[in-house]
Amino acid sequence: MSTVVISGAQWGDEGKGKIVDYLAQQADTVVRFQGGSNAGHTVAVNGEEYKLRLLPSGILYKGTTCVIANGVVVDPQCLLEEIDAMNSRGIDTSNIRISNRAHVVMPWHKLFDELGEQMRGDNKIGTTKRGIGPCYIDKADRIGIRVCDLIDREEFAKKVRDVVRVKNLTLEKVYNHAPLDAEEILREYETYADRIRPLVCDTISLLNNQVDAGKKILFEGAQATMLDIDYGTYPYVTASHPISGGVGVGAGVAPKKIDTVVSVVKAYCTRVGEGPFPTEQLNEIGEKLRTAGHEFGTVTGRPRRTGWLDACVVKYAGQLSGTDYMAVTRLDILDSFDEIKMCTAYKLDGKILDEIPASLNVLAKVEPVYETFAGWKTDISNVRRYEDLPENARKYLERMSEVTGIKLGIVSVGANRDQTIVLAENIFGE
Ligand code: GDP
Ligand code: IMO
Ligand code: MG
Repeated sequence: MSTVVISGAQWGDEGKGKIVDYLAQQADTVVRFQGGSNAGHTVAVNGEEYKLRLLPSGILYKGTTCVIANGVVVDPQCLLEEIDAMNSRGIDTSNIRISNRAHVVMPWHKLFDELGEQMRGDNKIGTTKRGIGPCYIDKADRIGIRVCDLIDREEFAKKVRDVVRVKNLTLEKVYNHAPLDAEEILREYETYADRIRPLVCDTISLLNNQVDAGKKILFEGAQATMLDIDYGTYPYVTASHPISGGVGVGAGVAPKKIDTVVSVVKAYCTRVGEGPFPTEQLNEIGEKLRTAGHEFGTVTGRPRRTGWLDACVVKYAGQLSGTDYMAVTRLDILDSFDEIKMCTAYKLDGKILDEIPASLNVLAKVEPVYETFAGWKTDISNVRRYEDLPENARKYLERMSEVTGIKLGIVSVGANRDQTIVLAENIFGE
């Protein structure tokens, strides 16, 4: 038992970075398997904060291999900025490995992300504008550029010139936008390629050899279940598969080689960007959650939408990812609430639903059924043992576990690495 997947159960920003960093104390390798720099994972250690976008949240441990696997879309500029920022803070980055099969985010991807959102007008998705969707589109359209191309000067130049010719047609004729200059892009990206080349390898064999050798590997999901392109609130989703199944295709490690799945659950709910959010609180409760939780996006700074915990969504995430344990984060943000609500079922036309509706029109009509819990009105940020949590906090957590059918594995009571209560001591199965 040495492979553990960490996946977000809600709409992102659950605190995956914190949980990965905590578990990475024991890991040999941490792997990003999907998404790109749309992710913003914050890790706090000894009062220092690190905001990670492409780098796996194992980067703070010297000697831990950090893999950016084939399912990730890599923005080289962003990656190198992150590496430089880490180095300037004395963090060693020599153990980063990048898949030669990962796709590269190119300037046109960011531009089309921006233009696409403008064109959608009121129907915009509210993307992070990091070029993620357009990069995955080109991957599926078979005109993507991969890391193995980026580091091959001739092949890269040929591909960039070919693709820019096609993209410029769309830019000029559809968007009435100035064309891109392939030669300028080549000059910029060649400098990235020179720095990235030494980090590139076949991460499929690297990871499978590690699995066979019994190494401890953490797969770090970005985004979350409700942003999954198949299982989320489509079309208000990202373009990849954040559920645990994403590891199979995104890292080339087969499903039967995954031992444990941990779903990260924020003790309440947030969402950035557009789309349905059944338990959203557009009132003073929502405002209080936002203020108490400093709920503003890591990547874009946008205020996050806030609401009560939706246990239906968490249960769904558990089903999809085969979750063994929940890691509940940010429980401390609820410290000052007199009462706390949890949605334990959806009702439609007076009937309890068994499923999360696919149709957004139907989802918009569901009525969350709430259970109300008395708050604990105590500062829990220094609690380190489950039994020391206030009874009301334990009642809330235990009901969450009961409704979702998922065991409690970790409870996080603060951003720092040590503000962590562990119930499942052997997540790596020792
Ligand atoms: P991610 O995208 O899932 O990694 O989550 P983000 O990093 O975007 O957002 C979670 C935020 O909550 C970050 O600022 C974390 O440092 C912080 N955080 C994580 N766990 C806790 C916790 O238990 N309590 C508090 N107060 N903050 C936490
Ligand atoms: P982490 O890993 C929260 C949201 C965007 C938008 C939708 C599509 O930090 O949890 P995209 O740029 O991916 O095409 O945007 O997905 N989104 C996130 N929301 N956390 C994230 O990452 C997100 N990554 C994308 O806001 O609604
Ligand atoms: Mg985030």
